[in-house]
Amino acid sequence: MNDRIDDLLGKLDLSAKIKLISGSGVFRFAGDPSIGLAEMPVSDGPSGVRGEMWDERDPSVSLPSGTALAATWDRELLGEIGGLIAAEARRKDVYAVLGPTINLHRTPLGGRHFECFSEDPMLTGEMAAAYVRAVQAHGVSACPKHYVANDSETERFTADVIADDRTLRELYLYPFERSVQAGAWMVMAAYNSVNGTTMTEHPLLDEPLKGEWGFDGVVVSDWTAVRSTTGAAHGNDIAMPGPWELWGAALEEAVRKGEVPESAIDDKVRRILRFALRVGALDGTPQQVPAFGDEAAARLVREAAAKAMVLVANDGTLPLREPSRVALLGAAAAEPRFMGGGSATVIPAHTTSPVEGLSEVLPVVYTPGVHLTDHMIPVPMSLVTDPETGTPGLTLRYLDGDDVLATEHREAGSLMLFGNPNAMRAKAIELRGTLRADVAGEWRIGFAAVGTLRLEVDGETVLSDTVLPEGTDPVEMLLNPPQRFVTRTLAAGDELDVRIELIPAPGLPALGITYAVGRPRRADDEEFAAAVELARTCEVAVVVVGTTEQIESEGFDRKTLRLPGRQDDLVAAVAAVNPRTVVVVNSGAPVEMPWRDDVAAVLLTWFPGQEFGAALADVLTGAAEPGGRLPTTWPKLMSEVPVHNTQPAADNSLPYAEGIHIGYRAWLKSGVAPAYPFGHGLGYTTWELADLTVSGRTATVAVTNTGTRPGRQVVQAYLSRDDSTVDRPVRWLSAFATVDVDPGETRTVTIELPQRSFEHWTDAGWVVEPGVFTLHIGTSVTALPLTADLA
Ligand code: BGC
Repeated sequence: MNDRIDDLLGKLDLSAKIKLISGSGVFRFAGDPSIGLAEMPVSDGPSGVRGEMWDERDPSVSLPSGTALAATWDRELLGEIGGLIAAEARRKDVYAVLGPTINLHRTPLGGRHFECFSEDPMLTGEMAAAYVRAVQAHGVSACPKHYVANDSETERFTADVIADDRTLRELYLYPFERSVQAGAWMVMAAYNSVNGTTMTEHPLLDEPLKGEWGFDGVVVSDWTAVRSTTGAAHGNDIAMPGPWELWGAALEEAVRKGEVPESAIDDKVRRILRFALRVGALDGTPQQVPAFGDEAAARLVREAAAKAMVLVANDGTLPLREPSRVALLGAAAAEPRFMGGGSATVIPAHTTSPVEGLSEVLPVVYTPGVHLTDHMIPVPMSLVTDPETGTPGLTLRYLDGDDVLATEHREAGSLMLFGNPNAMRAKAIELRGTLRADVAGEWRIGFAAVGTLRLEVDGETVLSDTVLPEGTDPVEMLLNPPQRFVTRTLAAGDELDVRIELIPAPGLPALGITYAVGRPRRADDEEFAAAVELARTCEVAVVVVGTTEQIESEGFDRKTLRLPGRQDDLVAAVAAVNPRTVVVVNSGAPVEMPWRDDVAAVLLTWFPGQEFGAALADVLTGAAEPGGRLPTTWPKLMSEVPVHNTQPAADNSLPYAEGIHIGYRAWLKSGVAPAYPFGHGLGYTTWELADLTVSGRTATVAVTNTGTRPGRQVVQAYLSRDDSTVDRPVRWLSAFATVDVDPGETRTVTIELPQRSFEHWTDAGWVVEPGVFTLHIGTSVTALPLTADLA
């Protein structure tokens, strides 16, 4: 391969090489026909493959979020998910997926917590390796991100993480090391700095990444993370998105002047050519990937979602046994979060909400009980008609004065337009759709966008405004722009012709536009009382609570772990009238649950992907077991969380003062008991672990299902060390194994304890402290019945 690469490199002059190290589009690596190198589209990919465009006409399978996948602790399942991701990538003609996200849950406030796997580096590393292997087995590149220490969002472009070598090596770098061992072809360099240097110019790209670990793939910058022309002398290989001016003509000039060595550019190009050979973009066709039909994809997502759900408390109410009537409550039951917000967003062809999923199998009566947000929603397609086609949907026109550049029929209320060639040229965008009120009451009708906007209702201008972005993060501005609206009192069946016109801000193309509505709703107290009354009259109450896109998303961190709105009050009031209250928590990261000891059962679902409702129905009825175990500690109160600083100081520094003590390590150190410990999860059966034997670094344990249902257990192995001269966690995860066992059966589980889990990082490299380590085996970091000493 290397001779071929040298040969191709020799055919490129400096300016051709410079073209290759910047993208040729927002989500596209450059090609060069003179050497048979195709352009290489890439796509965000942690929880589904969006493709180059955000477009509902080319939908994607929406997968469970990172936290959910890690909650399965299931490498084989990750392998199957990797196959689905690769199939989606091929279907969308992309050569690489920008995932997995393998930063750590340093604090539950982190805005992208949902996207990352775990607070533990070992569990994160195992999930990352399984994902990378599975995707790349099909000739599609994965891209573990963001290298490194991008563990929170506040001022993410400038934050300067201050962390010592040991902390970096043992925690934050470790999942990347595992990904490289698994053969990753691409790694994304983060926005932030570490110890004073921005990551796209950081020596950590050389050592350990490209040197000690032998990473021979490409380092791609996070989008806009390349900061300087001369920074090209360092380890980042591709500047994205493209074309990136700092690495264009200015870089060519810098190389000619000797400010950046041409050898640095050659190394980048070699890596890009190697990458192209791997993904089939050089003179060839990419590897075939077995297609996943829609049904097979839905089945896998549904199975993964159920395996990820963590039953943290249950008095025996779950699984439900043919209840006569179920009160289903909570705004999130009808409008749940299938996925987290930000670049991980995909547009699924269909979704199943808890209301839809549970209504299929249970005698459900639904009312929301609370309103979570005052935000309007993108107009549902069931309520609008495209005036041009007469079918459900909207007409989108791209205008330049009186010229119509293009007209599209669209079937989504919220349209992302950046990267769209028509939108790049248009001077104005027009969105039209006839709204039909399905219920009587006061409707809000409006838009969400940035630019100069005009809203017409039945031919009359009712609102015009120039809307400026709020916040500073571009992702937030793109995905969560300000909303404006008018109100109208409508009778059921009333129709209104709605037209929204957007003139983008000077110098900017249209980035996106949302036709938004707020449906009539009952007054808060009336709605609340109706829910409590319904719960009183039903055999069981299921309350779905959750976060919103406004409080949990990429681009910002959370300020509180409380659930928004009156959700806590609703659960408490429902539990007071119905002893069989089951709470379903739909969040990507921990939330406070002040009512947790007063309800019959608590089920954590994370952001479970498009099949949420179906998977939830499986789990609540017992058709599937909630297979998940916590990949992150769940606190009682935010005030007790050991690590919360996400706000850089005035000099941008963000000290990781806690060192190696994050997550359960910090909880164990503080001595405070969380609500639910790392590794915890109940499932629907009972277990006994016995007969621990150890030979060398191999442990075996007999796992018996002592209950009456088949079940799945995650057997966890932790190490501890008495009389250590080194600062250590009280104990730390060494290895784990998942096992399925039938009722009454015993299976012997073998667990290999990796050498690394005995080592710690010193100035002299990895070292094993002589002496005795203790092995603890069990089912969570605090439920460890078996121990053995290891010399
Ligand atoms: C995110 C990356 C993402 C990229 C492209 C950035 O803002 O941090 O994770 O891959 O955008 O969408």
